[in-house]
Amino acid sequence: MQTTSWVPLFPDQASDFAWQVDYLYFYLILVSVAFTIPIVAAIFFFGIKYRERERYSTPDEMHGSILLETVWSIIPFVISMTIFLGGAIVYYNQYRIPEDGMQVYVVGKQWMWKIQHEGGQREINELHVPVNTVVKLTMTTEDVLHDFSIPAFRTKTDVVPGRYTYLWFKPTKPGKYHLYCAEYCGLNHSGMGGYVYVMEQDDFAAWQSGNVSGQTPVEQGRDLFENKLGCASCHAGGPQQRGAKLENIFGHEVKLVGGQTVVADEAYIRDSILNPGAKIVEGFQPIMPTFKGQVTEEQIVALVAYIKSLSGVTGSTSSASSAPVSNTAPAAANTIAVPAANRGQANRQGSNPNAPASSNANR
Ligand code: CUA
Repeated sequence: MQTTSWVPLFPDQASDFAWQVDYLYFYLILVSVAFTIPIVAAIFFFGIKYRERERYSTPDEMHGSILLETVWSIIPFVISMTIFLGGAIVYYNQYRIPEDGMQVYVVGKQWMWKIQHEGGQREINELHVPVNTVVKLTMTTEDVLHDFSIPAFRTKTDVVPGRYTYLWFKPTKPGKYHLYCAEYCGLNHSGMGGYVYVMEQDDFAAWQSGNVSGQTPVEQGRDLFENKLGCASCHAGGPQQRGAKLENIFGHEVKLVGGQTVVADEAYIRDSILNPGAKIVEGFQPIMPTFKGQVTEEQIVALVAYIKSLSGVTGSTSSASSAPVSNTAPAAANTIAVPAANRGQANRQGSNPNAPASSNANR
């Protein structure tokens, strides 16, 4: 944290890839300065040296120089390739989402950030995370384009209407860091920000246990599915099953009417709720009504979390197919019931918030 009264030139380096971004940035500055100084110097030098017009009105002609052309081709080539490589490495490290990590859901809205943890903790314009833990954000917005940006972590990602985007970081230093919206999104864009609190593991565990309020996303999703929206009336197994089976589909290919297949990822589940006629699963009729306008983005996030849990997936966003599928129990009469393994997990999250399910794997 900046304690001086000076305007800080640089934010803290508080994530594990922050230094890489800074090295690249300093390299770009170095290259720019290394060109600017000789160019400006040459302007003045030649301006003074050749100022007498009459004596130098016809300069000597030059007809090609292999040496000169080679030099002015190779040097910029090397410089541009080092910039490209540096940028590619930083990008690769930053936008390849690790498999394990703590899952957090973010919904942007004019003009606030609504955040929900897997254990059910909710925050607005604040995000509490433990130090030295991979934190993965699944983000969307209720209205316009926003951009979730944490300068101290040197990372940001657009938050796009109708899509899920992902952001991850591994904080390395406890502290309080600015969180911004980095995309102009209307009148109070500049006020759409807050703080990320990076806490020691113990402090975070204490914060978590003191902030369990309401349902976890999976529980909220199950409630919507079984009660409020009535999805279970069609999607539950049994003789009157009219909707596609939802167990163990996440991360797997689904056969559609017409012979196509689609991988059931978060975007597919979301689309199927809002635009169910677009991708009909083989063997089913296009009878499902759209839920557009009836569910908020937060509720869709919860429904997606619940449907993922039916496949034994709780946290992983990037590599669903490699996530452990824990539901090996034989199908019960009501196949919509949460698999026992997941129910246990949900309970553990509620009663022992020190250990969120997804970060256990890291320890
Ligand atoms: Cu949200 Cu700018």
